[in-house]
Amino acid sequence: MVRDYSQVLANIEMAIEGEDDWIAILATVVCELHNSFEDFHWTGFYRVTGPGLLKVGPYQGGHGCLEITFDRGICGTCATTQETQLVENVHQREDHIACSSSTMSEIVVPVLAEDGKTLAVLDIDSDIEAAFDENDKVNLEALCAIIATHFR
Ligand code: SME
Repeated sequence: MVRDYSQVLANIEMAIEGEDDWIAILATVVCELHNSFEDFHWTGFYRVTGPGLLKVGPYQGGHGCLEITFDRGICGTCATTQETQLVENVHQREDHIACSSSTMSEIVVPVLAEDGKTLAVLDIDSDIEAAFDENDKVNLEALCAIIATHFR
């Protein structure tokens, strides 16, 4: 399915306009995304809180692991390579960390600062295989670029 992000992105931009609290922004983004697409079963951010360390940020869905080092997980791979990870079947990825046994596919998008540093990653899981495609990648990367401009 090709998801229409136009209204979601408009809602997010309206909701975060003028906001400078990073956690409030991330929580708003997660809420809008998670409640807009029914096969997003886990939607959340992992924030870079120290050298090589990701800590869970605002999320919706079942319990997510609290921290992930850059050398672990699809999130760690995304944070390290600064490249979106579009995973059609998580069981085909040795680096996958399963926070839920029902997860079948995943997309992880980097949030990159203007100076090139990784600020966070946006992680979305689905119980449906190959739930994400190039359309999701392009739109979620555009969203993460907007979010990055609000980082303080
Ligand atoms: N699947 C992620 C871990 C985070 S849980 O999915 C919320 C990974 O492999 O990095």
